[in-house]
Amino acid sequence: MLQRLIYFSARGAGCEDITALVAESAARNRTRGITGMLIADDAYFLQVLEGPRPIVSRLFQTISRDPRHSDVVLVEAEEIRQQVYPDWGMTQLDDVAKIAGLWWRVSSERPFDLASMKCREIKDFLRLVSFEMIGARPAA
Ligand SMILES: Cc1cc2nc3c(=O)[nH]c(=O)nc-3n(C[C@H](O)[C@H](O)[C@H](O)COP(=O)(O)O)c2cc1C
Repeated sequence: MLQRLIYFSARGAGCEDITALVAESAARNRTRGITGMLIADDAYFLQVLEGPRPIVSRLFQTISRDPRHSDVVLVEAEEIRQQVYPDWGMTQLDDVAKIAGLWWRVSSERPFDLASMKCREIKDFLRLVSFEMIGARPAA
């Protein structure tokens, strides 16, 4: 069974090198059949993980314990029929201006603040980002 899991977390001060984190994660994810996306602004990580359910669950437990972030909040874990992110393991978006610009298309009234967003808004935002970045549109 395949699963898509979405969470966000508070980005720790000790995690400056997103590129290295994504490169390591992508290599590991590829060998385990995991795909996904990591969005990082100054305050947050927002990640989507897709793949076989036991592998996604175990990885989420590992990630939750990682000291490079804190306050991990699960947004959704749902069964999916197919993975929509490409097989390069992990897509990265850490351009704060681009994040704000895309978020503005979902909500023009409020700043990008994951803790105050509804799950629906987070998923709309992820759909928009994935479509903009990789041309894939996850099912609603
Ligand atoms: C925000 C964030 C996202 C991460 N995403 C992944 C990921 O997608 N895949 C992965 O293997 N590790 C990811 N990691 C790193 C894991 O927490 C962990 O360090 C890594 O899987 C090695 O675990 P191990 O030493 O138990 O094998 C992430 C860490 C953070 C802080």
